[in-house]
This record gives sequence, C-alpha cells and structure tokens, in this order.
Amino acid sequence: MKANKQLTAVAIISSLFFAGIAAMEQPRGETFKNLQVLPKNISEDSLYKLMDIYCVSLNVDCKFCHAHDKKADTMIWHTDVKPEKEITRNMMRMTAAINETYFHFNDEVKASEVQAVTCYTCHKGQAIPQKEPAAKK
Ligand code: HEC
Ligand code: HEC
Repeated sequence: MKANKQLTAVAIISSLFFAGIAAMEQPRGETFKNLQVLPKNISEDSLYKLMDIYCVSLNVDCKFCHAHDKKADTMIWHTDVKPEKEITRNMMRMTAAINETYFHFNDEVKASEVQAVTCYTCHKGQAIPQKEPAAKK
C-alpha cells in the first residue's frame, strides 16, 4: 500500500514533468498540511500549476473542492470537508493506475511517466463527464 502510494506520487510528479512543468522539490520544510496523494515536499509552484490544471479540466474554480469560510471570506485549503476533494484523490490514483497498467507500451519510458490519459481526456471541461453523445439537433 505504501509503495503503491509512492508510485502514484511519482506518476503525478512525472505527469507535471511531461506537461513541461518542472517538478521542483521544496528546499526545506513542509509547506502543505494535508497531502495524501501528492509528495509532501512538492514545491508550491508545482502544486498550484496542478490545481490550475484541475480547474481547467473540469471548468470549476478552487471552491469546487476546497472549503470557503464565508464569515472570514478566506479559503481553508487543507481541510477535507468537501466530498469533491476526496473524490479527486481517487481520480488522481485512478488516472495514474490507468496509465501505468494499460498504456505502458514502451520500456524506454518509465511506467510512472506515461500520461496517455489525463483528467481532461474524460472531463473535457465538465465536472461530470458526458456519458452519451449529445443529441443531434
Ligand atoms: C477538482 C478538485 C480540486 C480543485 C478544483 C482544486 N483543488 Fe486544491 N487540492 C485538491 C486535492 C485533492 C488536494 C489534496 C491532494 C493530496 O491529498 O495529495 C488539494 C490540495 C491543495 C492544497 C494543499 C493544502 C494543504 O495544506 O494540504 C492547496 C494549497 C490547494 N489545493 C490549492 C488550490 C487552489 C489555489 C485551487 C484553485 C486554483 C485548487 N486548489 C483547486 C483538489 C482540488
Ligand atoms: C477515465 C475517465 C476519468 C478520468 C481520467 C478522470 N475522471 Fe473524474 N470522473 C469521471 C467520471 C465518469 C465521473 C462521474 C462519476 C459519476 O457519475 O458519479 C467523474 C467525477 C469526478 C468528480 C466528481 C464531480 C462531481 O460533481 O461529483 C471530480 C471532482 C473529478 N472527477 C475529478 C477528476 C480529476 C481532478 C481528474 C484527474 C486527476 C479526473 N477526475 C480524472 C471520469 C474520469
């Protein structure tokens, strides 16, 4: 289970690399409080770029997955009160697993670096992907 988790983390970081985003590690300390899938030492830059990719892929904003304190009008990034956040963790694991299991055709590329399928492949700018083709007009 632990090895599996690490592999997924590597896959996600590699995906960033493949998307042309350098996955720099944080030089010291932990910045984020509640990372369960991403590497705990991910740089701020890499994390925020990834979050932007999620927003664009699903056509949502940060509040779709993260809690917003209405009174204080601030975001509370580390809490898990919104179910969309936990669903997303599963989606991250699933996407990495699909790539490693079914799209690793070339041994010159590490299984964890394959990025044939992304959030956008399914979501295409929708929170819930379409199941059926749109009705013809
Ligand atoms: C589709 C869901 C989703 C969207 C949209 C999203 N996030 Fe996230 N975010 C997550 C998940 C899931 C995690 C936890 C990842 C993990 O456990 O490794 C996370 C973690 C974070 C963290 C780390 C919090 C901590 O201390 O643990 C920050 C900061 C963050 N997101 C910022 C943002 C910002 C800024 C936006 C908007 C630009 C955004 N997120 C949009 C799902 C999302
Ligand atoms: C293989 C296709 C596929 C991939 C890849 C995929 N998703 Fe999904 N996702 C789905 C489907 C299908 C649903 C809707 C499930 C349902 O009907 O309940 C969904 C639902 C979700 C939801 C819940 C939306 C809601 O309003 O309930 C979130 C959040 C989400 N996905 C985020 C992501 C993120 C982020 C990624 C990339 C890390 C991702 N997904 C990758 C197929 C996919």
